[in-house]
Amino acid sequence: MIYPVTVFGDPVLRKKAEPITKDFQDLRGFIQNMFDTMYNSDGVGLAAPQVGHAIRIFVLDTTTDEEDEPAGIKKAFINPEILEKTGEEWVMNEGCLSLPEIREDVLRPETVRIKYLDEDFNQLEETYSGFTSRVIQHEYDHLEGVMFVDYLNPLKKRLLKGKLTAISKGKVLPKYRIKVPGK
Ligand code: NI
Repeated sequence: MIYPVTVFGDPVLRKKAEPITKDFQDLRGFIQNMFDTMYNSDGVGLAAPQVGHAIRIFVLDTTTDEEDEPAGIKKAFINPEILEKTGEEWVMNEGCLSLPEIREDVLRPETVRIKYLDEDFNQLEETYSGFTSRVIQHEYDHLEGVMFVDYLNPLKKRLLKGKLTAISKGKVLPKYRIKVPGK
């Protein structure tokens, strides 16, 4: 099932997401739907608040580019906790399914160490770098109510204001289905 994607202006994107408990109904089904929604909109990552749930889970698939070094992963991260960000900051032009038609350069550290649960609630601790680390940091931010436009300088933010307002009013329509804030 493909969910509509929440966009800028939806309060769920600004909440600190709550941990998932073992009694969560049909977690595997929910994860599959998140992947379906992400692929349908050509995304490489998707966090639960982007489908309207302030819960701590995100999915990503960075395996698309076979030449990537290190190789990408396809995974769901449940109740993740970033333990450490290290390495030099590097810039990448980021986009977000909740910010259609906006792309901006964002600085993030190279490497991330993360603790999380897999779909069977096994606890894992892993280190990622490169593009996968970038996507993990972006998606993890969504669980903290943070979006990449928050990192922009005041001038860039001012220049984007009109576009953000248009998104929040449902006037920017991407190819995938969105949920217009307040509707
Ligand atoms: Ni995003």
